[in-house]
Amino acid sequence: MLTQPQEWINPLRDDLDKRLPRIAGPSGLVIFGVTGDLARKKLLPAVYDLANRGLLPPGFSLIGYGRRDWTKEEFEAQVLDAVKDRARTPWRQSVWDRLAEGIFFAKGDFTTDSAFDNLAALTREIDATRGTAGNWAFYLSVPPEYFSDVCNQLDRSGLARGEKIESATDEFPAIQGWRRVVIEKPFGHDEESARELNSIVNNVFPESSVFRIDHYLGKETVQNILALRFANQLFDPLFNSHYVDHVQITMAEDIGLGGRAGYYDGIGAARDVIQNHLLQLLALVAMEEPVAFNPAELQTEKIKVLRATRPVGPFAQTTARGQYTSGWQGSEPVKGLRQEDGFDPESTTETYAAATFEINSRRWAGVPFYLRTGKRLGRRVTEIALVFKEAPHLPFGKNQTASQGSNTLVIRVQPDEGVLMRFGSKVPGSAMEVRDVNMDFSYSEAFTEQSPEAYERLILDALLDEASLFPTNEEVELSWRILDPILEYWSMHGRPEDYPAGTWGPDSADKMLRSTGRAWRRP
Ligand code: BG6
Repeated sequence: MLTQPQEWINPLRDDLDKRLPRIAGPSGLVIFGVTGDLARKKLLPAVYDLANRGLLPPGFSLIGYGRRDWTKEEFEAQVLDAVKDRARTPWRQSVWDRLAEGIFFAKGDFTTDSAFDNLAALTREIDATRGTAGNWAFYLSVPPEYFSDVCNQLDRSGLARGEKIESATDEFPAIQGWRRVVIEKPFGHDEESARELNSIVNNVFPESSVFRIDHYLGKETVQNILALRFANQLFDPLFNSHYVDHVQITMAEDIGLGGRAGYYDGIGAARDVIQNHLLQLLALVAMEEPVAFNPAELQTEKIKVLRATRPVGPFAQTTARGQYTSGWQGSEPVKGLRQEDGFDPESTTETYAAATFEINSRRWAGVPFYLRTGKRLGRRVTEIALVFKEAPHLPFGKNQTASQGSNTLVIRVQPDEGVLMRFGSKVPGSAMEVRDVNMDFSYSEAFTEQSPEAYERLILDALLDEASLFPTNEEVELSWRILDPILEYWSMHGRPEDYPAGTWGPDSADKMLRSTGRAWRRP
């Protein structure tokens, strides 16, 4: 007779085993701003991909909310278009058919009471018929000036809280269902406006129900920074001022800003990218090991780094900003920013920003962190490079190491995801000559699994109440506090320097590093 050991543990139930697919429980998603670019290009395809990977619950429901006069079928057709255009997983009719049953449209603007009352009624009906159990996430893919209206309406119509249960007892909770809000940047344009925005959102949703999207944190390679540092013995012991000379964090794009004037003119590269994506990358590279991999511990460590981070001055020498003019992108002639549709011909918005930061901690004292980002640069690349100090003593003649540069560890975030180590090696032959070589790990060669798109991961995490990859209100405010002095200085000192499209930014950016005896990596 077969007996089962007394302490038999089903390995499939091991909560610590993070390799298991995490499937969202009963829930639904309401997207505000569903007719916008982000929804079409990222959110709707991500929902389909999640369904296709089997990570959504059977009764999952999606409500699009917008001003259009769409029927359910018309909205379904819009979602289908977006999915066919952008989904990353293969087309499967059966997955679509099941998903489409749970797709609904609610018509309304952001201020009309009756529209939100109808939305509330629709969610209740779906709870009753599709088993969403009162669990709803509200995705605000709308400009921040509408956050207040939407949050207040969610509050007024009762949508911001789960349903009260009349027969509540101590044993059973009084509220059925969770409510969460997912919000998109920009979270303000400086520290003060970020605080105001946070208080508007937090007046309705407690911080534990707020999921702020920084889509860089949803990227596999960004999460790999933590694996590289804390799952290995090889790297992290070198991550400090004894070994690292400086750190360069680069996010370069080759695209221009045609079609984005409404959002970008007046905002600029530093607010658009440094305040969020690049300072988050800095925090992940520089933070101490978290006590555990849970949201609270990760956030604690990131917040400690951000509190210790300061911009380095004098800004005339330690920062650079530029604006692209016409030029060549590959073999295509392209316009300058001031000729792009919708931009003010006198626009002073920077499309390139670079700045120097320091982290006042024992680990990083004296190590500059150079952050740069720009549009219409040579090519699209995001990477973090740790450039190491020279060996304290070289038992070679000068000529023997003349072609050797600094040891460098490069975390390639995208494209061509991977990690590169650059170090000196003996050139074959009878003489001792050292030259730089590369040791290259590439995701696409090492793994057969496909990386999920950042938005897939983040939407799933929000449905699962897994907040590790979402910046808190404090992180957002601290990031503005770090950047604000530079923005203020720029606003009072002239305009960005021109750089031709297709180059690597303004001369002042090169000068900024040259004056310290360093140079930007050419990725
Ligand atoms: C967004 C910025 O957050 O990130 C855009 O607003 C930028 O200006 C985009 O183009 C880049 O994202 P990715 O994932 O293509 O690097």
